[in-house]
Amino acid sequence: MTNKILVLGATGNIGKPLTAALIAKGETVKAASRTGKAIVGAEGVIFDFTDLTTIDNALEGVNRIYVMVPTGHIDVVSLVTPVLDAAIKRGVKIVFQSVLGVDADDNIPYRQLELKIERSGVPFVILRPNWFSDNFHTFWLAGIKQGVIAVPAGQGKSSFIDVRDIAESAASALTTSEFDGQAFNLTGPVALSYTEAAEILSKESGHPIQYQAIEDSVFVNILTEAGVPNDYAGFLASIFYPVREGWTALTTDAVEKLTGHAPRTLTAYVRSHLSLFK
Ligand SMILES: NC(=O)c1ccc[n+]([C@@H]2O[C@H](COP(=O)([O-])OP(=O)(O)OC[C@H]3O[C@@H](n4cnc5c(N)ncnc54)[C@H](OP(=O)(O)O)[C@@H]3O)[C@@H](O)[C@H]2O)c1
Repeated sequence: MTNKILVLGATGNIGKPLTAALIAKGETVKAASRTGKAIVGAEGVIFDFTDLTTIDNALEGVNRIYVMVPTGHIDVVSLVTPVLDAAIKRGVKIVFQSVLGVDADDNIPYRQLELKIERSGVPFVILRPNWFSDNFHTFWLAGIKQGVIAVPAGQGKSSFIDVRDIAESAASALTTSEFDGQAFNLTGPVALSYTEAAEILSKESGHPIQYQAIEDSVFVNILTEAGVPNDYAGFLASIFYPVREGWTALTTDAVEKLTGHAPRTLTAYVRSHLSLFK
């Protein structure tokens, strides 16, 4: 029987709630990670993008795959192409976690992966999430604990999206053919500046948190001093350009279409993670 769903990055921000949502729907899930540990009721399987010998076993018994790119990689085309090729060869349906805005230019690496999937002939759904709300308790938490969010976002607004809404959208895309052949720009319900986001964090946590708009070079220095490799720090700085330009301020009804409910607000996100911000 080939009816299993392979979730890549199953221990991660999206993969974990996605695996839980699929198990709750009664699906049989192979949770892929580099350790291969079982998570949230799913069997674990070892998968490493950088070890091609792990692909075949991970795809055994699978007819649908959730493909995401782990944080920290720049050459995403080289990293992801082997597993995409293997899935396409087997006729596996692909749900791909891309990035909002990459369809602006076919030369953008994530767009090249999208195009490969679109032209492959296998059923697919492409999900393009905006900036995650959850970055506030991952990437920006160290600063927030000192009362500051320092990023080069200018006064640009973003419709931050809760990873639970991405995971639930992905679960729908994987468990019905209704959305096949389509791409969805996944956003939160409203666009907020980092000043407005800091106000929400301050109000809900009871601690003053301020936004500091910084230059790219200052941001890169902060990241490299925290141990982020220089080239990835430069990449992270570059993706704030679309924020400053206002391109991440759009809102869509994609989450509602895919999940049947409105996306969660930033306030709801903060309330769900309050202990981390106290
Ligand atoms: N953060 C944002 O605001 C944002 C917005 C839009 C799009 N995105 C995109 O979302 C993606 C990140 O999603 P995420 O936050 O869910 O990922 P994540 O939590 O950073 O990573 C998911 C998992 O990937 C696994 N992993 C790391 N290296 C691996 C490797 N070499 N082979 C196999 N697995 C590996 C890790 O698990 P193990 O250690 O257990 O193997 C990790 O738990 C990126 O492509 C990013 O561009 C992010």
